[in-house]
Amino acid sequence: MSMGPLWCVVPAAGRGTRVGGQLPKQYLPLAGRPLMLHTLERLAAHQQIAGLMVVLGGRDEHWPAIGQLEGKPVLTTVGGAERCDSVLAGLRALPAEVTDDAFVLVHDAARPCVRQADIARLIELAVPAGGGLLGAPLRDTLKRADDGGRSQATEPRDHRWRAFTPQLFRRGELSAALLAASVTGVTVSDEAMAMEHAGFAPLLVEGAEDNIKVTTAADFALAEFLLPRTL
Ligand code: CTP
Ligand code: MG
Repeated sequence: MSMGPLWCVVPAAGRGTRVGGQLPKQYLPLAGRPLMLHTLERLAAHQQIAGLMVVLGGRDEHWPAIGQLEGKPVLTTVGGAERCDSVLAGLRALPAEVTDDAFVLVHDAARPCVRQADIARLIELAVPAGGGLLGAPLRDTLKRADDGGRSQATEPRDHRWRAFTPQLFRRGELSAALLAASVTGVTVSDEAMAMEHAGFAPLLVEGAEDNIKVTTAADFALAEFLLPRTL
């Protein structure tokens, strides 16, 4: 299936409470530059990505007013209380040239180590499948804890995947799915969950596990190590 240029929505409206500190994590330095800048540059450098829609927090005073990267437009809009609200806001703010049938990528600002090859693989496999996401099958044995932190049972590991981003869906279908989740009061933790609720079965595309989501302060050292190794 031939594939035109894609826009990417980048949710960056979180507060980074698990990292802590004054500055939201997306602006904290990683290898000397704001975390989010690494992510945006990597996305803009991808040949199949046409433009970026960055979703910022309502009181963001740190956005460096980047209008373009790698010659591609970088637009911004304001997000909401939950990640799913931010993604929906980003989808709504996309330019009209992105039709309802067009595929869009959604990628967390907090995942700077995503590999170009994995983005390409997701596009190649998930477009003909009608939508999908990067992820990886669980490797470790999975335990269910009781309230006291003791292992109650061992859960089956087969068919269990960790979900990453980017995730790729059609603009119209994803917008409708996120809106439906929102009106029914379901907080979806990723795009694929919204699509599952809407009756779709997103394709799981295996990607590198070093596509980490920087979540805690300790993750910065790991991401700094991984950055040059995931180019
Ligand atoms: N995000 C967003 N809007 C929100 C919440 C999160 O755009 N209301 C974005 C974050 O900025 C991040 C991505 O979604 O790029 C993944 O979320 P997460 O890693 O949970 O970041 P935070 O919500 O900022 O961190 P925490 O949950 O620790 O507060
Ligand atoms: Mg969060």
